[in-house]
Amino acid sequence: MRVLVTGGAGFIGANFVRQTLQERLEAHVTILDALTYAGSRASVAGLERLTFVEGDVADARLVNRLVEKTDLVVHFAAESHNDNALMDPSPFVQTNVIGTFTLLEAVRKHGVRLHHISTDEVYGDLGLDDPAKFTPGTPYNPSSPYSATKASSDLLVRAWVRSFGVQATISNCSNNYGPYQHVEKFIPRQITNLIDGARPRVYGAGLNVRDWIHVEDHNSAVWTIIERGQIGETYLIGADGEMTNLEVVRLLLAEFGQDPDGFEHVNDRAGHDLRYAIDSSRLRDELGWSPRYPDFADGLRATIDWYRANEAWWRPVKEATETKYAAWGH
Ligand code: NAD
Ligand code: TYD
Repeated sequence: MRVLVTGGAGFIGANFVRQTLQERLEAHVTILDALTYAGSRASVAGLERLTFVEGDVADARLVNRLVEKTDLVVHFAAESHNDNALMDPSPFVQTNVIGTFTLLEAVRKHGVRLHHISTDEVYGDLGLDDPAKFTPGTPYNPSSPYSATKASSDLLVRAWVRSFGVQATISNCSNNYGPYQHVEKFIPRQITNLIDGARPRVYGAGLNVRDWIHVEDHNSAVWTIIERGQIGETYLIGADGEMTNLEVVRLLLAEFGQDPDGFEHVNDRAGHDLRYAIDSSRLRDELGWSPRYPDFADGLRATIDWYRANEAWWRPVKEATETKYAAWGH
């Protein structure tokens, strides 16, 4: 099976490629990745049955040529960080919207199966005390430039399925953590700060809630949907991992043997979504998926170990990331 993975040098895409090549000996993977600041060849170095193409998902000629030679496209490529979108939304519109449009036109032309990777942030946010969780029927209500562009891409996929019969599924997943995540994101930023003897940085009061899932669980759910999902359907992926940011930071401080108050409060994010929570019962009940890392504290410990053992992977970008945050008061 020939699989084209867009964004395969990024966090979730690289884990997907590794997992796929390890677990599916029949698979040959081609990565299409623009190697933006978020992509790293090192994340997929040394793998067999892998072809790496450096290029833009919005480059119609290139995408057309690659899609023609593939059996399945899994579309991870995106600009993915909310703080960056608040500083400059332009690449988000270009990659997330125009890039997805470009890919849709190619899979339409060549009749190739597509799985589109999206986020629970398309649904906006929930109240802290709201008993509700997001379901596939929750109305789209994105609040940030990032989530608005991801919502746009989802709607394009839905329209191409309905209007042109494109063979596509969509998944909207909650916050991922695990190996190979860029140190600009919450969990790896705090782990690498603690390794460096610096204090974790918490936005605002730290009461915002995220629903954490290990990246391997996200990717096993993606394969479940590719193999057993219904064309045109949307599946929500989550592992019941709701935590406040403060709770996460305190778990990390405890793992590093530090005082529970050993963190800094920094400027809050503009428009900061309060809470995300996923009801993944459709994925579990209809498709029989369940997570391999049901315990967040275990997964977090494994992730700390990975960052301790792989300093060479993250060290080159740590200082520039912190300089960027310092300029923003984060
Ligand atoms: P990431 O930022 O780590 O990686 C994105 C990858 O896409 C990078 O390798 C980058 O070089 C590549 N890329 C960016 N623009 C490109 C372009 N124009 N053409 C080709 N490649 C390009 O992101 P991630 O966290 O791995 O997220 C992957 C996908 O999963 C995204 O679609 C994101 O919206 C979605 N998602 C992420 C999370 C999360 O918690 N990180 C949760 C749910 C959904
Ligand atoms: P992030 O990893 O950027 O993911 P998202 O915005 O997609 O949820 O942030 C996760 C949460 O952590 C979010 O509520 C913002 C907060 N946060 C901090 O408190 N400190 C930080 O240094 C960062 C990067 C994020």
